Amino acid sequence: MVKINEHYANIGSNYLFSEVARRVREYKAAHPSSNVISLGIGDVTREIAPVVIQAIHAATREMASETTVRGYPPEAGYDFLVDAILERDFRARGVQLSPAEIFVSDGAKSDTGNIGDILGADNLVAITDPAYPVYVDTNRMAGRQVELLPCLPDNDFCPPFPARPADVIYLCYPNNPTGTTLDRSQLKRWVDYAIAHRSLILFDAAYEAFISEPDVPHSIYEIEGARQVAIEFRSFSKTAGFTGLRCAYTVVPEELTATDSSGAAVSLNALWRRRQSTKFNGTAYIIQRAAAAIYTPEGQRQTREIIDYYMQNARLIKEPLERAGLAVRGGVNAPYLWVKTPGGLTSWQFFDRLLGEARVVGTPGSGFGAAGEGFFRFTAFGRRREVEEAVERIIKIL
Ligand code: MLT
Repeated sequence: MVKINEHYANIGSNYLFSEVARRVREYKAAHPSSNVISLGIGDVTREIAPVVIQAIHAATREMASETTVRGYPPEAGYDFLVDAILERDFRARGVQLSPAEIFVSDGAKSDTGNIGDILGADNLVAITDPAYPVYVDTNRMAGRQVELLPCLPDNDFCPPFPARPADVIYLCYPNNPTGTTLDRSQLKRWVDYAIAHRSLILFDAAYEAFISEPDVPHSIYEIEGARQVAIEFRSFSKTAGFTGLRCAYTVVPEELTATDSSGAAVSLNALWRRRQSTKFNGTAYIIQRAAAAIYTPEGQRQTREIIDYYMQNARLIKEPLERAGLAVRGGVNAPYLWVKTPGGLTSWQFFDRLLGEARVVGTPGSGFGAAGEGFFRFTAFGRRREVEEAVERIIKIL
């Protein structure tokens, strides 16, 4: 008789963004002529940069010829992409990594969840609350104990250290969903904590390209000692509109270890390589060529222009909402705005009100964790005229 993984009883029946999409679909079915604007999931709304499209076309032509066709890709990425990552994302910021420490993949969502495959089920996992739901859900699926670190206005959305020493700590900065950051000294305290407690930090830096302030680290490896204690996740989804193309990478330093049951140190880089080479067959050649194109000078210019466009959207949401009396965080170093719901409404009550009265979709804060109750997230990944229209509609119903 087949048995299920009983740990699934410890997570909600729907993934947050699937639940939001389901409710929006129902609303649209009941109101077919309504013009609903989404500031919900952080997804591509602008066309993909021309350099990326040209690279896709060129790589596709290579696939059409017997002499240049490519088969299975190297499971951790082609050298042309790994070298570009090492140079532009790290060396240019004073961080030295080796090619063997980069693992190109099909997305940071899968990597931040799959990394649990190489970690024991008896680790205590500390996760900020609110958080990107993948961290809590995947750890509960694996039966791990989770300790939540509430990030609230009282602590300026800066996570407190766990009450019990945590083995694994998820940090996402710039933060999804609150849009807040940790400065260099705050991140250093977490690295020091991890060194002192022999913990592993899983650092999700998917939004680093949106950082505008100088004291905000782009990589955890800018902090001394981090190589001993941290894995970092990066994504092309938000940086260069790859939500539909799928490409990301994970950095696992070679000296990073965890212990086995005999107390011996085991390389996490070796375990992750073993996991990836068994369960993953590499990212498509065409997609890796597309990702490499964003590291060319023209690629950097074009992607910067798109990021600036989204961050201008963030200002166009933040400033009017603040003038209307709402408390708004984020939107300066991240494409997310974290808003206190007005009139004491719960997050889902505000969701229903916005959808029903303003025909605007956002993401209820409580979907990111209990500490998100009473908050609401807007994304800046919108088309300009729709963002402006959505803000006008929101303000009218406040
Ligand atoms: C979000 O809206 O939080 C993200 O775009 C969802 C994701 O990256 O999976």
